[in-house]
Amino acid sequence: MPKLGVNIDHVATIREARKVREPDPIAAATICELAGAHGITVHLREDRRHMQERDVRLLRQTVTTHLNLEMAATPEMLQFAIDVLPDMVTLVPEKREELTTEGGLDVVARSEDITKVVSSLRKHDVAVSLFIDPDLHQIKAAVRTGASFIELHTGSYASAYDFGEGNEWEEELVKLDNMAQVAQRSGLLVNAGHGLNYRNVGPVAEIKGLWELNIGHAIVGRAVLVGFDRAVRDMLDLLREKR
Ligand code: PXP
Repeated sequence: MPKLGVNIDHVATIREARKVREPDPIAAATICELAGAHGITVHLREDRRHMQERDVRLLRQTVTTHLNLEMAATPEMLQFAIDVLPDMVTLVPEKREELTTEGGLDVVARSEDITKVVSSLRKHDVAVSLFIDPDLHQIKAAVRTGASFIELHTGSYASAYDFGEGNEWEEELVKLDNMAQVAQRSGLLVNAGHGLNYRNVGPVAEIKGLWELNIGHAIVGRAVLVGFDRAVRDMLDLLREKR
């Protein structure tokens, strides 16, 4: 079964709606870990719309499983990551106006600056993952940067599954599966995420060799209703069924 990384950004979204202290994502991370999550993921965005630097620094001290920091490949963020030293950095594209990360990183077009960021982080023993679309050119370019992981963008699959027509989702799944196998044969470890939820996660969890799924909105959404402990355990049960 793939590991489960829980993205807790939207706990901070609720807090920032009022610019107060609660709910605290640090507490949420601890509950996720106690419920069996294999890792905690946070995205420190340039506009600081949810996670704040304080959150990432505290999580570095409190997370006992695996801390994955999603960030843009900018000099400012690189400096921050080297200061905090998360277990992993996932490089993502970032646009101020987007509601959530839209496409994958264009590693082909930005290979030079991405390679520099990857090598600086690796010198500090931080594993690096590149969030990319399931596309052969992007995978080949990712290998050349020296990153050890990629995270395949599952957004198109998820929206086809939830809202698409006919067997569109199966075509997206085949694409993810093929690219996951190509990437593994090229020596990359493969994560996946974006838009995954309790309905659509099953077929992705069955893709051979996936290391970790990063899931945020669906788990936080369920946690609002039933609590984080139950929300994480429900997701882990679904992943175990696909073992
Ligand atoms: N992976 C990456 C790289 C992301 O940017 C996000 C969203 O922050 C996720 C996974 C989780 O997506 P979702 O919140 O739709 O589960």
